Amino acid sequence: MYRNWLLFLLILSALAIFPGCSSSVDVTVAAAPAEAAELNGGGIYNRGEEVTVSAVPQPGWEFVSWTQGEEVVAETREYTFVARSSISLTANFRPLEYAVTAFAQGQGSFLYSEETPRHGVAYVITARPEKGYRFVCWLEDGEVISTEAEYAFVPYGDRELTAMFLPEEYRVDLTVDAGGEVEESWTPDAVVTLAAVPQEGYEFFGWVDMESQQEVSLQEVYSFTCTKTRTLMARFRKEVVPVDGSNLIAVVGKATTIGKYAPKDLVTLPSNLSVKGRRVRQQVADALAVMAEAALADGVKLNVDSGYRSYQTQYDLFYRYVKRDGVFKAETYSARPGQSEHQLGTAVDFGGTNRDYSDGFADTAQGKWLLANAHKYGFALSYPKGKQEITGYKYEPWHYRYIGVELAMEWKESGLTLIEFLQQKNQAE
Ligand code: DAL
Ligand code: ZN
Repeated sequence: MYRNWLLFLLILSALAIFPGCSSSVDVTVAAAPAEAAELNGGGIYNRGEEVTVSAVPQPGWEFVSWTQGEEVVAETREYTFVARSSISLTANFRPLEYAVTAFAQGQGSFLYSEETPRHGVAYVITARPEKGYRFVCWLEDGEVISTEAEYAFVPYGDRELTAMFLPEEYRVDLTVDAGGEVEESWTPDAVVTLAAVPQEGYEFFGWVDMESQQEVSLQEVYSFTCTKTRTLMARFRKEVVPVDGSNLIAVVGKATTIGKYAPKDLVTLPSNLSVKGRRVRQQVADALAVMAEAALADGVKLNVDSGYRSYQTQYDLFYRYVKRDGVFKAETYSARPGQSEHQLGTAVDFGGTNRDYSDGFADTAQGKWLLANAHKYGFALSYPKGKQEITGYKYEPWHYRYIGVELAMEWKESGLTLIEFLQQKNQAE
């Protein structure tokens, strides 16, 4: 054992003292950093042989030098020498320098990173608006690439960036309902595009200009040129559930739709029931005749002021109210098309008094009689006082819907709002 060690040490020292003893030499090459290049020429050579090592930089890197230890031995990518002894060579590289140029659209300036932008090395440029302006976005080749004033990126080439600054007052103040998100983008000519993206189970429900309270678009993508502050709301709602309008107990409210349903058995009411000759479904006309007779026996004259309304009529009506009162107010007293009980042909508004369509109707002879008796003839008051949270609509003492005598009696007994009662009935079915 001890002898083996001795022999080993002897060979080792011989090699150190007389390197010439071995006839081959090792040429080792390495790139710094390793990923910067491909190297050729490393390997085993005969002593005295001519060796050429070469370095091929990867994209984004430039060659600096060949070094042996601390010493620079060549400043060319190809280095030729005579192999006298084993040698370790390093090919040194640095990341390429790039040009980052920024242009201002509108009034603003830039703060650049202190370091020169280099390949693969994080770089930051910050857009700084002048007074009276605000930063909107960074653009490159006409595309928005960031909406952060401080734009951090890793350069892999020259960059030509444009920062967009707009006058302070050119802005969109957005309110976004629960149920979705909005993506906002700008072009250099101040065209803003808003894209509403509903969450699963929700649907987009229109853009409202909060200043005018008008619904300005029902499309998810809304684009306009911004030349002042716009205050907008993106509205979302739970996906409405389609229901069959021909069903006497259809749940008709803000969470459902009967689409463009139109009843097939509409009849025009005689003038003793409706001065304006409104239309309702046949069985509703029959029930109205019976009820009106009973009311008359009590000295009360019933009159139907509004009956069936088509999808289109309801559409026109709703948007007429929106124009007059704004969308939020209109929604408290008018149904959207596809969501009105009037479109069923089974709902009626009583009137012809000097208190029509007001709370005061409840105090008229018709209002009082209907409240006490309508259910006996199959009619239910759809929108009672103080139940707006549930029904979605303000008190309407004049609006009754026909659901049949048996159900109307049961409804009255239940103390529920009509919509709650019908929801229960539909679930039970
Ligand atoms: N006024 C009721 C809610 C309707 O428009 O159907
Ligand atoms: Zn009504």
